[in-house]
Amino acid sequence: MTRWDKRPDMVVHEAEPYNAESDPAVLAESYLTELDRFYSRNHGPIPDINAQAWSLTVDGLVGAPLSLTLADLQSSFARHEVTATLQCAGNRRADLVAVKPIPGEDPWGPAAISTATWTGVRLADLLAAADLDPRATDIAFDAPDVSQLADPPQPYGSSISVAKAGADEVLLVWEMDGRPLPRLHGGPVRVVVPGYIGARSVKWINRITAQDKPSDNHFQATAYRLLPADADPDSAGPGVGLPLSVLSINSAILQPADRSTFTAGRQRVAGYAFSGGGRSIARVEVSTDGGEHWIQADLGEQVSPWAWVLWSATVDLPAGPVTVVARAFDSSAGTQPESPAHLWNPKGYMNNAWPRVSLTGELGS
Ligand code: MTE
Repeated sequence: MTRWDKRPDMVVHEAEPYNAESDPAVLAESYLTELDRFYSRNHGPIPDINAQAWSLTVDGLVGAPLSLTLADLQSSFARHEVTATLQCAGNRRADLVAVKPIPGEDPWGPAAISTATWTGVRLADLLAAADLDPRATDIAFDAPDVSQLADPPQPYGSSISVAKAGADEVLLVWEMDGRPLPRLHGGPVRVVVPGYIGARSVKWINRITAQDKPSDNHFQATAYRLLPADADPDSAGPGVGLPLSVLSINSAILQPADRSTFTAGRQRVAGYAFSGGGRSIARVEVSTDGGEHWIQADLGEQVSPWAWVLWSATVDLPAGPVTVVARAFDSSAGTQPESPAHLWNPKGYMNNAWPRVSLTGELGS
């Protein structure tokens, strides 16, 4: 085991702050991602917070501001759990980088995504206890980790709409897969906003503010926005581009590994598919001829509308070079665009183009 109790085969993009994803080939060996291979995305030093000393303020446009300890959270509100997939907005950025370089951003592969069962309390219940003012439109989250990526450096923060904040699936959690939330993943307490980009699931949360506008934190106002392809990310200030929230339909091929060799013949192809907004996965298809013909993949169980589906298909692959592509459809009939070239954006977010792996088939002996 290495730093942060992660497996030695993690793909580490940055050691400090720790930014790492699983080896794609083993990501989907289980529906719930093993904690030692769950990806982690950090923008500053990882805080070390004593659970007994931790407290949370709920203030802003509320009639009754709250100050809560972990014991208060656990004793005063009903306990809920949600099985939810977290996916970073930068997942699969590597395919955009292949189109055109994206300086200053990690080239995440297809494993900046993982699934856990999270246990905690509903954000809606806290807001009700604080007597949320109807003038509030946004709920802002603040954390103590100071990021040098903001200018000047700033603690991490974000916000979501009041409508999403009031939804049953949005929790403040202290357990991940039945274990105390690990420090790296936001312990003692983080927000989990299922179906939204991971950036909104603020870790080490210490303040929740009801307000009549989105957070002006760097990670809401400036970063995690979809800029036009021709924008200059260095001069794009707050408010430029589209703020990112609900995740688009996406999928990846995890097995066989890209650029691997195989014995020509029947071959199992497997991966995941996931869509935000509580939309379920309706269909996954695989093609070995660039999208002329498609084979229906077998879908595994979708345990929750907020979590991924694991899929597999068996295809006949010839000797020689072959490219396998896939595409998923969700319950709104949304599907994936063919090429990352049309999705390229200066910060490299939200790549959901068809996944493709290039393989070489060898004749069996
Ligand atoms: N919360 C804080 N306080 N600081 C961070 O750097 N990163 C965000 C989000 N919450 C971040 C944060 C991003 S971009 C993602 S994708 C998820 O946390 C990653 O969560 P994980 O490290 O538990 O996988």
